[in-house]
Amino acid sequence: MKYELPTLDYEYNALEPHIDEQTMKIHHQKHHNAYLEKFKAAVKGTVLDGKPVEEILSNPDTIPAEIKTAVINNGGGYANHNMFWKMMSPDGGGEPSGKLAEEIKRVFGSFDAMKELFNKAAVTRFGSGWAWLGLDEQGKLHVGSTANQDSPLSKGHIPLLCLDVWEHSYYLKYQNKRPDYIEAFWNVVNWKEVEKRFEEAK
Ligand SMILES: [Fe+2]
Repeated sequence: MKYELPTLDYEYNALEPHIDEQTMKIHHQKHHNAYLEKFKAAVKGTVLDGKPVEEILSNPDTIPAEIKTAVINNGGGYANHNMFWKMMSPDGGGEPSGKLAEEIKRVFGSFDAMKELFNKAAVTRFGSGWAWLGLDEQGKLHVGSTANQDSPLSKGHIPLLCLDVWEHSYYLKYQNKRPDYIEAFWNVVNWKEVEKRFEEAK
């Protein structure tokens, strides 16, 4: 398969005022693209070249040692951002419905309890990384965070919802106020996409 920068399903300014246009543009065209280019350079001419990035990250033990760090960092950055743009929509926000809503209630007690855990994971992730809602290796709903560009796929998890908490994702608008950015994110969460991922994973 070819590795390409995905186009967004919405305009750069479509998530305003929650996520600003300039951040979206730089994040997608510069940061995401840089991960993609470095990932392509790392796998070029190796046994991994052409394999889906998710498959590569799901099998970290098969990554040749000499390119492992580059693939984990840049392949992770490429894959995580591919997913992140799908997590958001100008028609997003609110709460999930259907089976996902039921499962969140069953596992966490309520939607708000899950949200609180997710916010805590996002705020307390030291330095750069991601907050996640996903299925753990036992297939149970789980909230957590990863450092840098580490993918939950590499520990056998299936990611359903993700939030980028690298400073490049919020600094222009929110500066040091990461909690304000996290709170704003809930207004644009594309629950239809998260529900679809949940159905497919089950
Ligand atoms: Fe990012």
